[in-house]
Amino acid sequence: MTYKIDQERAPIYETLANYARTGIYGFHTPGHKGGRFAAAEITELVGRSGLALDLPGMTATDNTFHPTGCVRDAQELAAELFGAAATFYLSAGSTLGIATALMAAAPQGGTVALPRNIHRSVVAGLVLSGASPRFVPHEVLPECGALGVTPVSLAAALDSEPKPAAVLLTRPSYYGLARDLEDVAAVCHERRVPLIVDEAHGAHLHFLPPGSPQPAIAAGADLAVQSCHKTLGSLVGSAQLHVGRESVIEPGRVQEALNFLQTTSPSFLLLASLDVMRRWMWREGRELFAAAVEEARRLEDEIDSLPGLKVFRPEGDPRLAGHRRDPLRVVVNVSGTGWSGYEVERYLRTEFRVEDEMADWFNVVYILSPRDDAGATQRLLAGLRAISEQHNTGAGTPRLAEDAVSSYLLQPPVPPLAMSPRAAALANKATVALDSAAGRTCAEMVMFYPPGIPLLMPGEMVTRETIEVCRKLLAAGAHPYASDPTLETVRVVE
Ligand SMILES: Cc1ncc(COP(=O)(O)O)c(C=O)c1O
Repeated sequence: MTYKIDQERAPIYETLANYARTGIYGFHTPGHKGGRFAAAEITELVGRSGLALDLPGMTATDNTFHPTGCVRDAQELAAELFGAAATFYLSAGSTLGIATALMAAAPQGGTVALPRNIHRSVVAGLVLSGASPRFVPHEVLPECGALGVTPVSLAAALDSEPKPAAVLLTRPSYYGLARDLEDVAAVCHERRVPLIVDEAHGAHLHFLPPGSPQPAIAAGADLAVQSCHKTLGSLVGSAQLHVGRESVIEPGRVQEALNFLQTTSPSFLLLASLDVMRRWMWREGRELFAAAVEEARRLEDEIDSLPGLKVFRPEGDPRLAGHRRDPLRVVVNVSGTGWSGYEVERYLRTEFRVEDEMADWFNVVYILSPRDDAGATQRLLAGLRAISEQHNTGAGTPRLAEDAVSSYLLQPPVPPLAMSPRAAALANKATVALDSAAGRTCAEMVMFYPPGIPLLMPGEMVTRETIEVCRKLLAAGAHPYASDPTLETVRVVE
């Protein structure tokens, strides 16, 4: 492919580097004054050159509200490389991008159609935008969590009243699973409903070999939000929001929404890291990721040869028709070894000094990259070999009872919505015992990690069924994630 603008440029990085070279002294923010007034530990952490370039939005740099200089140019370069009509650089993660997308696409009081496997940032986005959710049913499998919504179930959600103003899908999932998107995008486009994709885990899809999941923007999404810090090499917190070429949402509307939410002091170090990452990926991304996929295949074959361990591969599984997986997300099912995923996680951390991205009862999930440490990969294999060789003696995580497994796996019925997430989140609240909360309107998010899918969202009625599921999960040793870390109490609308 030929590019119209010079992808060899890195405008934000060049602007910072040129500014540092001018020798101008700043009688302005930031207070650390290029590192002169920084604690020694900060200098140690960030380095002298990092501190010298840690500049805010100002005349010499640019700004992210109405960019007219290096930020505008860098965003145009990113849009071209990633195939978007416009790209917005974010210095507060996909969390900022998702809230922006929802505020741009969903009017206050409107409805957003979405599956239940949403990240907490989507719930925050609903609170900020004032929209209410309509949950689209989808399947969940023990091997890989949530499957993608089908065109049929999405069409049914979009054709019922009140008509949703937008659709939001999470793709790929934490397990690297991505359903093909084009037919789902077509369902949205036929109805002129914008499709937002939370692609937090898929910034690298663009550079993967054929056969991998298609990036959302290429498959027809209107808006896609990517945490570049998760799977590309930019700094933690850096992310980008793309507007599709045929998007029904104008880039100007996205900028307006973003301007309500973003800081006036975005970290230009983070923005520069997006800029140089984009240039590097333009130069070498495809080769680097092709080689990484080959490495991943070799590793997976070795893991699969270990008795009791099984790498998740959707190919040929009729339940997963239309789904592909991220080849760099290695999901190892450990249930054949007698170990839970949590036990494997702990054992590999302490005995082999390797850490996974996520564990659940049955699986451990590893994210690979083009530059993984070969020695660490060998330690990972050695640890998994050791697990395969010794059947677990079982002192650690409690085994899951059959019904707890199904409560965990099969998303319990979505509780009825008593008021909008925004109304509940901003209401006066009371703290009550979980066991006596039935019939009250929840004012917070209650979830278990993993899978981190909300069991309760602000605005939803606490039901006896949900309380029972929480109890079973607590008894089974699952980790609650709520204002009360023991989940003995819950915040409800007063
Ligand atoms: C599916 C999903 N969406 C959104 C986010 C938020 O991303 P960020 O941490 O970049 O704000 C995450 C973070 O873990 C995520 O897993």
